[in-house]
Amino acid sequence: MFAPATRNPSYDVAMAPLIDLRGLTVEIPTPAGWIRPVDDVSFALETGESLGLVGESGSGKSMLALALMGLLPPGAKVRGEAWFSGANGSSAARVNLLALGEREKIAVRGRDIAMIFQEPMTALNPVMRVGAQIAEAIRAHEPAISREQIHRRVLAALERAAVPEPAVRARQYPHQLSGGLRQRAMIAMALSGNDEGAARESGSRENGVTGKPRLLIADEPTTALDVTVQKQILELLAELRRELGLALLFITHDLGVVAQVADRIAVSYAGRIVETGPSREVLARPRHPYTAGLLRASPQLVRHKLEPIPGAVPSLTALPPGCAFEPRCPLRVPECAAAMPDLREAGPGHTARCILV
Ligand SMILES: Nc1ncnc2c1ncn2[C@@H]1O[C@H](COP(=O)(O)OP(=O)(O)O)[C@@H](O)[C@H]1O
Ligand code: SF4
Ligand SMILES: [Mg+2]
Repeated sequence: MFAPATRNPSYDVAMAPLIDLRGLTVEIPTPAGWIRPVDDVSFALETGESLGLVGESGSGKSMLALALMGLLPPGAKVRGEAWFSGANGSSAARVNLLALGEREKIAVRGRDIAMIFQEPMTALNPVMRVGAQIAEAIRAHEPAISREQIHRRVLAALERAAVPEPAVRARQYPHQLSGGLRQRAMIAMALSGNDEGAARESGSRENGVTGKPRLLIADEPTTALDVTVQKQILELLAELRRELGLALLFITHDLGVVAQVADRIAVSYAGRIVETGPSREVLARPRHPYTAGLLRASPQLVRHKLEPIPGAVPSLTALPPGCAFEPRCPLRVPECAAAMPDLREAGPGHTARCILV
């Protein structure tokens, strides 16, 4: 169903990561000129792996997620490649998400890649019962499914997201749920296609649709929640990952949260990745001064006094000529302002964009 032009014939599909970003760049027109909230971002995510994308507000994390989902604001320009090998439930279908047509993008959303957001109220329709919304999400990818089957699938989806009394909750409106339950309802909706048994029963499998997202993108899903509820949602995500074999791209401004969910970390600053590596390694031995600053500013990771990073993320319309972190960096030397440092090898699977590495 995908145009051959979007396939990459030179690649051994069996060895391919689930998602492979190469030089992903997003540019948006603003009254002050073009900005580049995502600038030459490359990383890969293996099947079942969890990657934490961390950075302060305004560092381009959401734009990156929206680019993968094909949901960028109108007028945005996108460059680079985003190879995805889980399209339509088949690891043989390797497609460049950025080159898909509008209809193919719609097919990928929900079916192959699911996304949840910080504020469930923006994703949930306030005037529609929770169950009806999940039913709509299921029907979007499986139009032939019967009413009875849909009803069962809706309850199964809510149950899987550990929503207590699913039948009662399905009849309620989003505002009748607590923040934590709303987030669970959104997770249920996002993963409602991920029900292989039911998909087989409804015959959608025979139509070539397995209805099984392979990748979940979670954009600050716990930021609006208090710490106890946050912990419960993180546990639910970990459980779903194990159960459904999902890869997770977890986006957050909070290194403390990422430490709980991610195998690997990518730290983003002003649109660029400035450090990547295994979570434990990056948290124990950060090699970029910005990552070190985030650590000192994280309430969950610091036992002594918190030290916020001075200053703010630079405006994307007025980036410094050299290292983007230079104006805030406690370790800067005159050389730092001369040119943007490349990502340098800092250890096994560990890179950092700093001249001190
Ligand atoms: N619709 C939009 N139009 C123009 N600029 C935007 C739009 N959405 C976000 N931006 C800008 O893009 C940059 C990155 O935003 P975003 O990806 O939301 O950052 P993050 O998710 O890391 O907080 C910010 O400077 C923001 O102001
Ligand atoms: S390149 Fe220089 S300014 Fe940038 S993070 Fe490294 S030391 Fe700091
Ligand atoms: Mg965001």
